[in-house]
Amino acid sequence: INHYRTTTFPVGIHTFRTVSSTNDYAKQFSNNQDLTDPQVFVADSQTRGHGRLGRHFYSPINGGIYLSILIPLQNRKTIHSGLITTGTAVCVVRTLKQFFPKEDFRVKWVNDILVHDKKCGGILTETISSLEDGLHEDVVVGIGLNVDSTNFPKQIAHKAGAIVANTSIDKNQIAASIIDHFFYMYQTYTSGNFLTEYSKLSDTLGKQVEVVMGNQTITGLADHFTHDGALVVKEPTGQLVTVSSGEVTKVYL
Ligand code: BTN
Repeated sequence: INHYRTTTFPVGIHTFRTVSSTNDYAKQFSNNQDLTDPQVFVADSQTRGHGRLGRHFYSPINGGIYLSILIPLQNRKTIHSGLITTGTAVCVVRTLKQFFPKEDFRVKWVNDILVHDKKCGGILTETISSLEDGLHEDVVVGIGLNVDSTNFPKQIAHKAGAIVANTSIDKNQIAASIIDHFFYMYQTYTSGNFLTEYSKLSDTLGKQVEVVMGNQTITGLADHFTHDGALVVKEPTGQLVTVSSGEVTKVYL
């Protein structure tokens, strides 16, 4: 099978044996220079990998894939980070289905990847807007996946889902395929043409959810996604409430 599509994007690739966090490294990197091309940072392990809300993301060597894609935006271009996160989730699952056709992968809104109902990965999109000239707002899309739990300590293996317990998996190939899918998607991401696929993969739609947005909590049925990846919740009164990913702190199912 040919896992690779051709994109004409020039992309810089940086690889590390270990790094504190590929997202933090990418943010630092973006502050230091005037970039035009996207840059990808891939590490075998991270000492301070993190997810949304400052949560730790366990990133041991040989355990998974930890990578960040830095997209430099110039001339006041902006990016829709909710949509890019949604699109990235679809890319990750497209890749995983190719490599692990027998497993069941789903996406929990907005950024969790599940395998057989357990979280095995996540996406953390961060924007960097404090650049000096005010003309740049760079974006870092971080992807973390627990691929191989062979060496996970028991307490962690209990909680965290991982795709396989099998050390022979070539994580570089999986990472390369994710990057490839990402840039293919990125070229048309504003069209949101991946949202139908995202809805099909969703573990959230059709379920009762409780969403915490700042100091407001809403409960209801996860009804559908908007054209920009926001979740529409139908409250018991019938009222529809649109929640964009940026506002959510917790989604209970
Ligand atoms: C989440 O679960 O909330 C998102 C997890 C994102 C983890 C990835 S691993 C690569 C990149 N570097 C980080 O520190 N975080 C992301």
